[in-house]
Amino acid sequence: MTIIESAQAQTPPSATASEMPIRVGEIMASHPAHHQLPHASEYAQGSAFIIDHCCPIDRAAIPITDLGFSRADAVYDVVTVSRGNFFRLEEHQQRFAESCERIRVSNPLNREQEAKLLHQLVALTGFKDAYVWWAVTRGKTPMDSSLRLKPEAFENRLYAYVLPYIFIANDDRRQSGLNVAVSRDYIRIPPNAVDPTAKNLNGLDFAMSLYEAGDRGADWAVVTDGEGHVVEAPGSNLFVIKNGVVSTPQSGCLQGVTRQSTLDLCNEVGVKTETRLVKTQELLDADEAFVTSSAGGIMPINSVDGKPLGGCEGPGALTTRLHNLYWEKRWNGWDATPVNYDDLPSC
Ligand SMILES: Cc1ncc(COP(=O)(O)O)c(C=O)c1O
Repeated sequence: MTIIESAQAQTPPSATASEMPIRVGEIMASHPAHHQLPHASEYAQGSAFIIDHCCPIDRAAIPITDLGFSRADAVYDVVTVSRGNFFRLEEHQQRFAESCERIRVSNPLNREQEAKLLHQLVALTGFKDAYVWWAVTRGKTPMDSSLRLKPEAFENRLYAYVLPYIFIANDDRRQSGLNVAVSRDYIRIPPNAVDPTAKNLNGLDFAMSLYEAGDRGADWAVVTDGEGHVVEAPGSNLFVIKNGVVSTPQSGCLQGVTRQSTLDLCNEVGVKTETRLVKTQELLDADEAFVTSSAGGIMPINSVDGKPLGGCEGPGALTTRLHNLYWEKRWNGWDATPVNYDDLPSC
């Protein structure tokens, strides 16, 4: 039985397999292809790299004077591993290099050293499904204040960590679809304040929109540009589907790797896509909608501001098809880089 067949066997009897997003979390927890490999016991929960050394995740600590912590002056990226393969590792590394350039920090590691470190951190844990985060921070403020104006005067630092794979929406939430609230109180910070294409740590707009969504009884938030267009959701890109056309905001958002993967999938199955400004009203009037992130893949939306999309509850058919295809392809080696589990660092 293939992984997808075994997933389909687990779908509720009331629905046919093709109508339901597969229960990826359950498969990760139970299928032998996803079992954690042998590892040192202190790395059972995760691993980290702090400036110049590796350590177990529960011993990882940031120096309190680092501007990455005190001023969110840092960029980061997240790549995931599933079934022992990184997905689109080169794209994530390329985006990270561009993020560093945009905020004028320099990565202490070159591209090859960075990849090796990410492999080694996963290898320490033995995780077959992992969330792999890394960042370059500005470092600490120079004592001489005049040097604060010179990015080259800072000693930039690298941090990284690996945790088990994280879902923004778990199996149940993906099968029911997320109920999202379009934030009324907060907008996405404008691109000429903080460039959203540099994946950065300034997240208070998203955090506040999530608390607002919680207060309104929703599962997740969507934020706008304040000028009538939706741009993103916390930790994720947004897509709307109307009359079979899949559209996603062109600007004011991170150029998500899962967003691009979704556009590629649509292209592959012959679905028309548009990357353009998307009005908030279009989300409310959509037949289907979903968010995308490395943390969960393609995650269906059920309702927007309390209104079920497409006039009925649950994920839409095209969203579900894309969701399942995304995982099927990943588990069949789509843009995969196998983790080198044999190369353990000397920490
Ligand atoms: C603000 C924001 N938008 C979009 C995304 C999705 O990007 P990706 O698909 O590369 O994970 C993320 C991921 O963390 C994010 O933080």
